[in-house]
Amino acid sequence: MVPLCIPEIRGNEWKYIKECLDTNWVSSVGSYVDKFERDFSDFVKAKFAVVTVNGTSALHLALKVLGIGHGDEVIVPSMTFIAPVNAVKYVGAEPVFVDICRDTFVMDADKIEELITSKTKAILPVHIYGNAVDMDKVMEIAGKYNLYVIEDATESLGTLYRDRYTGTIGHMGCFSFNGNKLITTGAGGMLVTNDEKIGEKAKFLSTQAKITLENKGFFHPEIGYNYRMPNILAAMGCAQLENIEEYIQI
Ligand SMILES: Cc1ncc(COP(=O)(O)O)c(C=O)c1O
Repeated sequence: MVPLCIPEIRGNEWKYIKECLDTNWVSSVGSYVDKFERDFSDFVKAKFAVVTVNGTSALHLALKVLGIGHGDEVIVPSMTFIAPVNAVKYVGAEPVFVDICRDTFVMDADKIEELITSKTKAILPVHIYGNAVDMDKVMEIAGKYNLYVIEDATESLGTLYRDRYTGTIGHMGCFSFNGNKLITTGAGGMLVTNDEKIGEKAKFLSTQAKITLENKGFFHPEIGYNYRMPNILAAMGCAQLENIEEYIQI
């Protein structure tokens, strides 16, 4: 058996987590949550990053932010871990499966176009096992048919496609920090985007779609989610990121 990745915990993880415990900043409001988003977006060179409780919730948020739902179709690869397909079903849309490449196991971009219908709203390439999908082709098709592209980069943190990190090429990219990923927070995820509106909406939906009123009451104009990562896990993420270049080499 060849594992995807195994956890490497050899940096400041204990120190940063202890600081959270010592100061009682354990839940999803805390300095490490914001720092992890900043450090992560700096690393992948994306404008916005929204940290989540896992990669599946990042995928779910991405679809919700774009308003994808009942009656819509999303093109997904026929071989992938099931999470992106589940996320499409969570929002009531239909996954449409495209064949994969024999050599890399990722979606075959040359077979996407024949699957596009009037219901197609997005393409969801999954960069499985660190192999990048042909993003030039995916973006060309998306532009031609006016489709969104949500990259599942959960297995490809650190993979460069030309000179950009996978997850930063489409409209949104999703990452996972599960224990079998390049860096881990035990469980965790991140949504990145270069679009400010998308970034703000994702953060809003991930924090119960909450607006704090002047009288300190909460107003919820739509259904939100409790998807924000707790500070303890974000502290671990910050420590993991400090050594990411080394882990990419291993
Ligand atoms: C391709 C792929 N997508 C999505 C996920 C979901 O991530 P998470 O387990 O953090 O929800 C995983 C792995 O766990 C994955 O391998």
